[in-house]
Amino acid sequence: MSATWIGKDLPPIRRGEREYFLLGREDGLYLVLNQCPHRGGPLKSGFVNDADEIVCPQHGSAFSVEALIARPTTLRLIEQEIGS
Ligand code: FES
Repeated sequence: MSATWIGKDLPPIRRGEREYFLLGREDGLYLVLNQCPHRGGPLKSGFVNDADEIVCPQHGSAFSVEALIARPTTLRLIEQEIGS
């Protein structure tokens, strides 16, 4: 079973005109564009399969988490202490 998860129940995460969803896996947290590479379906409403792919709810295509993270639109969240 995959250790990757999607923040399905979180409110939409917007940055400018774009909407992202939170994706977590062992190496960190990412903001991934909530647009399927196929035809823009809402990937956030899909699921992670056992092959560590996100299955889009629109047409059922599966995209590897690795490839989604490598997209230039994906943001990796970094840990930073605020204040002191
Ligand atoms: S829009 Fe996602 S599979 Fe077609």
